[in-house]
Amino acid sequence: MTIIAVIGGTGKLGSALARRWAKSGCRVIIGSRAAEAASKAAAELGHGLSGMSNAEAAKLADLIVVTVPFAAQEATLLDIAPHVKGKIVVDTTVPLMPPKVMQVQLPAEGSAAIRAQNSLGPDVTMVSAFHNVAAHKLATDDDIACDVLVFGNDKAARSIIISLAGKAGLRGLHGGALVNSAAAEALTSILIFINKTYSVDGAGIQITGTLINPEA
Ligand SMILES: NC(=O)c1ccc[n+]([C@@H]2O[C@H](COP(=O)([O-])OP(=O)(O)OC[C@H]3O[C@@H](n4cnc5c(N)ncnc54)[C@H](OP(=O)(O)O)[C@@H]3O)[C@@H](O)[C@H]2O)c1
Repeated sequence: MTIIAVIGGTGKLGSALARRWAKSGCRVIIGSRAAEAASKAAAELGHGLSGMSNAEAAKLADLIVVTVPFAAQEATLLDIAPHVKGKIVVDTTVPLMPPKVMQVQLPAEGSAAIRAQNSLGPDVTMVSAFHNVAAHKLATDDDIACDVLVFGNDKAARSIIISLAGKAGLRGLHGGALVNSAAAEALTSILIFINKTYSVDGAGIQITGTLINPEA
């Protein structure tokens, strides 16, 4: 069975995704800078989750999901880099730069996803996803009105993450090449703005129209 490591899985997005995946039967490890914090979070979340340091989790896993703030992205990727060659790494980073989180501020590389690919190099299959879904909604068992746009240059890897989104109860959709991740990353600042302006509790995005599965 595929082992999933959620790097920074003690946090809001990571813990919520890890819980949903573990609950659906996936084998999931929570990673943290502090192994003790990871074990504690895993025990609290239940569903057979285990916890260890980010590096150990990345080493044991086949698939790595990075859920840390933009400011921590580079250091975190450096930490796990020796253990992710030949694996799929899913980056969820939104380049929010407080305090102006309602304004789009993409990094010089064009997106957090491209920055991640540059950091880890070409031996890693980089995918990015889950930028627009509110962690506090994922932390419940409720249905969530938000599609997950999945970006990456490897279509087969995107398909794997689309099915992983499905295991978390979300509809994943191909969003195209990794460079397109900029659009979903930018959209999050607009969703935060909409939340504030219209008093919405976690606005999401949904693609309209009848979609025909390209794999069918
Ligand atoms: N929250 C959401 O609703 C949401 C939705 C979509 C996308 N995202 C994106 O997902 C990522 C994670 O968001 P989040 O809200 O889950 O973040 P978070 O809860 O603030 O942090 C996640 C984890 O990152 C680690 N971390 C925090 N600061 C760090 C630092 N300075 N250096 C290294 N590690 C650090 C911590 O783990 P340890 O202390 O255990 O190491 C923390 O538990 C962000 O890039 C965010 O933009 C979030």
